[in-house]
Amino acid sequence: MIPDESLPARLIDLLGKTQSATALTGAGISQESGLRTFRDAQTGLWAQYRPEDLATPAAFIKDPKLVWDWYALRREQIGAVQPNPGHYALVEMQRRIPRFTLVTQNVDGLHAKAGSQGVIALHGNLQRVKCFSCGATASAWEEPENAVPRCTFCGGLLRPDVVWFREELPKEALQSAARAARGCAVFLSIGTSGLVQPAAALAYAAMHHGSVIIEINTERTPLTAKADFFLHGKSGELLPRLVQATWG
Ligand code: OAD
Repeated sequence: MIPDESLPARLIDLLGKTQSATALTGAGISQESGLRTFRDAQTGLWAQYRPEDLATPAAFIKDPKLVWDWYALRREQIGAVQPNPGHYALVEMQRRIPRFTLVTQNVDGLHAKAGSQGVIALHGNLQRVKCFSCGATASAWEEPENAVPRCTFCGGLLRPDVVWFREELPKEALQSAARAARGCAVFLSIGTSGLVQPAAALAYAAMHHGSVIIEINTERTPLTAKADFFLHGKSGELLPRLVQATWG
């Protein structure tokens, strides 16, 4: 095999030997599938829309139809795209590393679609809905014309089962993610700006417990200066190269 000289040999060696790793992904990993990130200047969703208008409980109370339609459009976009080589490389990494946990902030379901097992979805799943009144969840629902769908149990309005600003993360998911961050030898932060808590704190929890931190991003982030390795570029290119260089 020809060594990939742009990847540090020390990193390949370390990854090849590691028994436990946790990866945290953000919108950047799905960018090469054709989905927009949130904070990239010009192209990010939050460069065009205000999160207060679309991604808070107050926004839903004020205008449920506007919020429902915005997420319906995103659901449609997600349904039309496929996992990219970055998602598949993480599936391969899970096969190679004895204890591997994948934590994602993405609601697009692309990791599971690629074949990753036991994905911890910190911010929920856009393919599911939740009743705004009683909290019942569902993966299928009737979509009336020009109205927000209603809960079959209590008649309340249905909303996407994603975490909005000012809402708490699913407790069990967050606890499992925190445990995986504290207990891994290697922590990978991939395609996330690291600006949203509590997900952003996971890398620091891992660091505090002695993990080696690897960051993969097209831009520098607040984590970059503290990471042991910063791989600067697209995850859809770098992750497959990392897997290839490590396990052949
Ligand atoms: P952001 O949009 O904040 O950050 C995306 C990151 O991906 C940036 O640091 C980019 O530089 C990087 N990036 C872009 N394309 C990339 C590529 N091809 N390869 C590698 N990196 C790339 O998205 P998140 O960090 O995921 O929350 O945002 C966190 C949360 O904020 C989201 O889950 C969402 C949002 O509000 C909720 O919806 C609750």
